[in-house]
Formats: sequence, structure tokens, C-alpha cells
Amino acid sequence: MATAPLHDEPLAAAYDARLLRRLLRYLVPHKASVAVALAAIVGHALLRLAEPYLVKLAIDRHILTGELAGLELIAAAMLVILTGSFLLEYLETYSMGMIGQRIMYDLRMEIYGHLQRIDVAYYDRHPVGRLMTRVTTDVDALNDLFASGVISVFRDIVMLAGIMAVLLWMDWRLALVAFAVLPFIALVTQWFRRNARAAYRAVRGWIAKINAALQENITGMSTVQLFRREARSYADFDRLNRGHAQANLDSIFYYATFYPAVELIGAVATAAIIWYGGAWTLEGTLTLGSLVAFIQYSQRFFRPISDLSEKFNILQAAMASSERIFGLLDTPPSLVSPAVAPSPPGRGEGRITFEHVWFAYRGDDYVLRDVSFTVEPGERIGIAGHTGAGKTTLINLLLRFYDVNRGRIAIDGVDIREIPLDALRRRFGLVLQDVFLFSGTIRDNIAFGPAAGSDAAVRAAADAAHASPFIDRLPGGLDAEVAERGATLSAGQKQLLSFARALAFDPQVLVLDEATSNVDTATETLIRDALHRLIAGRTTLAIAHRLSTVRDMDRILVFHKGELRESGPHRDLLAQRGLYHTLYELQYRDQEAKSAKASASLRLADSPQRG
Ligand SMILES: Nc1ncnc2c1ncn2[C@@H]1O[C@H](COP(=O)(O)OP(=O)(O)OP(=O)(O)O)[C@@H](O)[C@H]1O
Ligand SMILES: [Mg+2]
Repeated sequence: MATAPLHDEPLAAAYDARLLRRLLRYLVPHKASVAVALAAIVGHALLRLAEPYLVKLAIDRHILTGELAGLELIAAAMLVILTGSFLLEYLETYSMGMIGQRIMYDLRMEIYGHLQRIDVAYYDRHPVGRLMTRVTTDVDALNDLFASGVISVFRDIVMLAGIMAVLLWMDWRLALVAFAVLPFIALVTQWFRRNARAAYRAVRGWIAKINAALQENITGMSTVQLFRREARSYADFDRLNRGHAQANLDSIFYYATFYPAVELIGAVATAAIIWYGGAWTLEGTLTLGSLVAFIQYSQRFFRPISDLSEKFNILQAAMASSERIFGLLDTPPSLVSPAVAPSPPGRGEGRITFEHVWFAYRGDDYVLRDVSFTVEPGERIGIAGHTGAGKTTLINLLLRFYDVNRGRIAIDGVDIREIPLDALRRRFGLVLQDVFLFSGTIRDNIAFGPAAGSDAAVRAAADAAHASPFIDRLPGGLDAEVAERGATLSAGQKQLLSFARALAFDPQVLVLDEATSNVDTATETLIRDALHRLIAGRTTLAIAHRLSTVRDMDRILVFHKGELRESGPHRDLLAQRGLYHTLYELQYRDQEAKSAKASASLRLADSPQRG
């Protein structure tokens, strides 16, 4: 796996109108909640603005003048304001949290749906870890934006503008004194923003590296242990982990400095207000109530400023994340399913033809060259060739995981690019080289296709595939849990299960990419027999690694470096003494010897042991 670059993201502009507009579109389905949140935010801000002013009124009109009548009204208004604040803040927090969660839900479903439509070739180029990040961390960053960023910005703006207006209105001289510290705030904020942004990027880079290292090492843990690379891996991880911690510490430094600095500047402003305002109050040009209100306002003034810088960081992260998410969502599936079937997608005869097929996974590095052959309905075709000859690639093309570069593949004369993907893939039962089991029960894994369902069908498939004996030995039988990727089953058991899966699906055409893994002779016999049942009465295309399989086929196609070189039944091909003969000598011959020896020794060992 390629090592992740330190910064797996471009330095996105903190504000990108196009991205932001697109992001805001996700708010549209939640218009009502957004309206509630906005109303609550603005209402809450106004209430908080009114509070110091009430204090001023209480001091100037009542406390200083000794006029008791009316003070109870102010006290009551204060109570109403505080209760209202409580309710509005609840409404604000809850509705914004809800909007964030709903948008995350929508986005995740959208990304997942897109991942399912995207073609297999995309996954060759994009590591799984990265794609996982799209659905998890990146979506979370957007949640921050919606739940605490984009909407609550209004609160800060309303508060800032409101306080400035009220201060200027109450006493413009003192307002200017309070505003005198703003340039310093601007400087500190600028410093914080620039550094926090860089620190944030560094942290992200380390997280990406840690994820990549973890994924690789956990998956390959047995190899690490086998080659006793623990110390080396540990040291590597230590370096990454240390880098991550240090990057976080750097970022914490900026936060730890910024907020106290803003508070300090705020304190300077308060001191200046007391100094000048106190003098003016003594002079009689400022009321005491105004001075107290000023002090209260100034204390509420600096909080929104530091909050806005924090929101700027959220916006920054969200921009970078949304750029990556939209990049993924905008990747069109390069394989498109035609909208309508040219003919009803019924079960035609199913004649498969490859006509002058050329294919390269990338560039013009051709893996298949001018391949032409026909598989007649009901015919059993074996495919043989050295490793890397392009055998699995044939299947990838037939099932349209990739599209051919030149030539065409047709079923009953219809180009497979004109058959809806669903109808095309429904015809095939696929048993792959690398059996993929999903976590879930054995039953779920057998009844994996859309058609297979009933219990009896699952059981019948398991019986026919000789999978029942080992399934019944598992705790829970068909309901036994399969570990991730079938880690708790043996290679042979996994193969039998995959046969059962194909049988339950009852496909018209069986496509088999035989596993190369060695299994014991008893299992080998079971597999061979299960395979016979699987093949019976079906058009079969089998990449055969077992001599027994290849011998059973009506015809064998021999591939060499992407070209179809020989074709014919086993006996004829052997007699030709060509490529197949060499292959036979290299690959199949010793299997014959081995299996003969194995069955002989089994026969010898049989009677005393099994009795
Ligand atoms: N996803 C891919 N991207 C790029 N190249 C690939 C990809 N899959 C296979 N190849 C290349 O294509 C060639 C043919 O591979 P293919 O898997 O078809 O071989 P094969 O005949 O099935 O071999 P084996 O017997 O080992 O399974 C190989 O050179 C391989 O490196
Ligand atoms: Mg292969």
C-alpha cells in the first residue's frame, strides 16, 4: 500500500462560495427546523442584549432615585428574559443538533448509495481506508458545520452588531473607548487563525498516516508476528503516534493562548471603561446605570469574537471535507447500465461469445489480446493458463466489472453493454478464487443472492454442496455466526459454502474461479463431488486449478500472456504436446501423483483409524 501523504487534503480555501452553496442545499429539506433554529437564535441574542439595559434602567430610574414603584416590573421582566433565554437556548441547541444529525444521515446514505453504484475499477485506485474516512470523519466535520457553525454564526453576528449599536447609542465616547482594543483583537485572531489552521492540517495528516498504518498492520498481523517484525512495527507506530500527539499539542498551544489572550484584551477594555467611564460618571456626563451596563456589555462583546474564530476553523475543516465528499459523489460510475433491455431479460439460451476482445486495466498494458471464443448453451468450458495469463480478467469482463477496450462480449448475440447490469448478473452464479463471506450467519451467507430465500432451499443447497456435515458441527448449525471474512472457517469449508451459495442462487451459467489453496484429500473429494453437482445441467465456465476439474470439461481454452492459444478437450490437447501439455506437466501432473499417493495412504490408514 502506498504511504499516505502527510496532508491528504489540498489547502482548501476557507470560504469557497461554490462549495458553500452546495452545502447549504442540504439545509433545504430541513427548512422548518432551520427556521425554528434561526428564530430561537435571534430571539435569544436579543434577550441577552436586553438584559444589561434592564440593569441600567433599574439603577438609573429606581435605585439611584429611590423610586421603588416600577422596580418590581423590571425584576419581573428580568425573570421573563432569563426564562425565555432558557427555553430559546434549549430550542436552539436541540434544533441545530437535529439538523446536523439529519444532514449527516442524508449524506451518509448518499455516499453509501454512490459507493454501491461506482464501478470496481474505482476501488483499484482508491484505498479502502480513504473511502471509509469519507463516510465517517468527513461527514462528522460537516456535522460540526451544521450543528454549531453555519447557523449559530448568526447569533455571534446579531450579538456583535447589537452590542455595538447599543453602546454607540448609549454613549458614543465610552463606546469608542471600548472599541479601542479591537485592533489588538484583530491581530490576535489573525495569528490564531493562521496557526490553528496549519496545526489542524498537520493533525489530519498524522491521523491519515496512523489509519493507514493500523489498517495494514492489523490486517497483516499474522505476517508481522511470523516474521517477528513486532519491534520494528512498534517503533514505526511509536513515531506516528508521537507525531500525532505533538501535532495536537501544537494545536492545543494555540487554543490555550488564544482564549486567555482574548479575555485579557477584554479585561483591558473593561479597565478602560471603568477608568474613563468612572471619571465621566463623577463628572456627571454619564449615568451610573450606563457604566454598569457598559461593563456588562463589554464582557459579552469579546466572546462572540473568539467564537467566530473558532467557527472559522470549523468552516475550514468543513470546506476541506466537503471538497473530498463532493469529489467522490461527482465521480460518475464509468460503467452505466442501459435503461431498457433490448429484449425481455428472460432466460434465453445463453450462448456466450467473446469477439476480438482486447482489455487493459490501465493504459495500453493489454492483459487480454484479441480473444475470441464461444460457449454454447450447456457446454462446459475449462480455462487454463499460467498465473497472470488473464483468466480472472475474463470473468471480470463477462460480469461487466470492467468494460472491454476493443471487441465485444455478447450473450445470445446481444452486446452485454446493452443488457441491464441487473439482468446480466442475474444469469451468473459466481464462485470466486477468494471466497468472500460477510459477517452474519451461515444461512445469511448461503442465501446471499436476491432469489435464494426459503429455509428448505438453503438446506438443500448446503446438502448438495456437502457443506451440511461441517455446518451441523458448528454451534448453532445454519445459524452459527461467521466471523468477518469467514476468518473462523477453513479454506475448504469456505469453498463448500461458496458452492452452496451458488447452488441456492441456481444460476443459468456457472462461473468458477477455482481456489489454488491446498486442501486435504478428504475435503478434496467432497469438493470434487460438490462441483459435479454444481456443474450438472449448467453452462459452465471454469478456471480450473484442479486436474479433476479441468479433465471434466468438454473443452479447455488455454491462455498464455493474454492470448487464447489452444482449445480442445483434455485428451486432444495433451496429444498436441503444446502449451497445455507443458502446463499439465508443471501444474497438474504432480497433483495426479500426489492425489494418488494420498488416496493410497488414506486407504491404508483407513481401516484402523475410522473404525
Ligand atoms: N485490478 C487490476 N488492476 C491492474 N492490473 C491487474 C488487476 N487485476 C489483475 N491485473 C493484472 O492483469 C494480469 C492478469 O491477471 P488475472 O487476475 O486475470 O490473472 P489470472 O490468469 O487469473 O492468474 P491466477 O492464475 O494467478 O489467478 C496480471 O498481470 C495482473 O497483474
Ligand atoms: Mg485468477
